[in-house]
Amino acid sequence: MSNEIRFITKNFHEYDTSSIDSYIGIGGFKALQKAVSMDGEDIASLIAKAGVKGRGGAAYDMGRKWSQARAVPGERKVIICNADEGEPCTFKDRELISNDPFNLIESMIIAGYTVRAQDGYIYMREEYSHLRPLLQKAIHQTEAKGFLGKNILGRGFEFNIHLYSGAGAYVCGEGTALIRSIEGKAGRPRMKPPFIKQSGLFALPTCVNNVESLSIVPHLLLDEKNFYISQGSGESIGTKLVSVGGNVRHPGVFEIPFGTTVREIIYNLAGGLQDDRKLRLIQFGGASGKIANSDILDTPYTYEDLKKSGVTVGSGAILVIDDRTSVLDFLRITQEFFSHESCGQCTPCREGNLHIKLLLNKLAKGEAKHRDIDTLTKIAKIMTMSSLCGLGESAQNALLSAMRVFPETFDVGGAE
Ligand SMILES: Cc1cc2nc3c(=O)[nH]c(=O)nc-3n(C[C@H](O)[C@H](O)[C@H](O)COP(=O)(O)O)c2cc1C
Ligand code: SF4
Repeated sequence: MSNEIRFITKNFHEYDTSSIDSYIGIGGFKALQKAVSMDGEDIASLIAKAGVKGRGGAAYDMGRKWSQARAVPGERKVIICNADEGEPCTFKDRELISNDPFNLIESMIIAGYTVRAQDGYIYMREEYSHLRPLLQKAIHQTEAKGFLGKNILGRGFEFNIHLYSGAGAYVCGEGTALIRSIEGKAGRPRMKPPFIKQSGLFALPTCVNNVESLSIVPHLLLDEKNFYISQGSGESIGTKLVSVGGNVRHPGVFEIPFGTTVREIIYNLAGGLQDDRKLRLIQFGGASGKIANSDILDTPYTYEDLKKSGVTVGSGAILVIDDRTSVLDFLRITQEFFSHESCGQCTPCREGNLHIKLLLNKLAKGEAKHRDIDTLTKIAKIMTMSSLCGLGESAQNALLSAMRVFPETFDVGGAE
């Protein structure tokens, strides 16, 4: 039985994505019309009441973020749509942009109205440059219809959207690095404070949201039957897009109600493992996420239940690895990624990633001793505590979780 649902993905294949008239034909921009008849604070509290958490990885309360962004003083403010989607095995935002570009634009205008911003930027990873013409066309058509520009819907508010492509660095998905990249500087994170919400792009108050977080908003505004809040429970209300990849029969993006079990996602929606092979491990939330073994299969996919099982929702990625890859090889590949993507500006991350990689290689060659395993643990913990940004803080999540779940991988026998 399929547990797939269509709320955030409701518009997929329902209209011609190259035509604003087609979008309007299915009810497009009705949410914007409703939004401009509301007070911005009421929009933020509607999102907060629905319990929407940011879908970029940090799961920050979205209604709260909008309310705070609205309250920050400033003549000019900025909305940024984070479409960097650099986390390996994460490809849900690409689906949202490709299948429903006008909904994203509508949600950004609503965001602008709510927080009193005049400019919106969509920061898209370089690998998605093929989607630029689609978005650019959608922006032009929206301007021509008067939903972008000055005096939108006669309400005296102005909003414009700019498209920006990164150069392909994973770290540019981090808010401050992303902002520096748009400003034409090297895309490296900076210390906080100042916080982005007070001093972000061009030192203006800035609100950064993920594509999926934004895409929920128009649907939520028009959800008169309260379908969204009838799904899930507790901290995990509504529906969620997950991208399932790796050794499954049908990799893809699925919209699920929170509470669907991991087993249902992998075996019903993604078709189970290729050639009915044995499951080795599952990584949740991208390369910076933690890993689990098959014990997690009957866990409901919720923020709370995954946390209890030692993993997190993160970017929404679910990477399934079968018995053809060893845990150690998986960790070595993950570490290769982080050594390459570390921007190098702070020591724990630059040196830590390199040395974890070297120690894992030593372990793979059968040359590691007990003290090497101790050093691995020590480096990983130092990185978590002292790195400047989320990359260095989370790069060793896979390693530390593997030490808990697959201790045999680190068993070096009697070697001192
Ligand atoms: C190294 C790194 C990479 C990130 N990459 C992304 C990304 O590709 N997309 C994204 O939405 N958030 C990414 N984030 C999280 C963002 O910094 C930020 O929390 C998010 O865009 C906020 O939007 P949300 O509140 O709607 O989730 C990344 C964070 C770090 C530390
Ligand atoms: S933690 Fe890593 S990616 Fe982040 S600033 Fe430091 S070196 Fe750069």
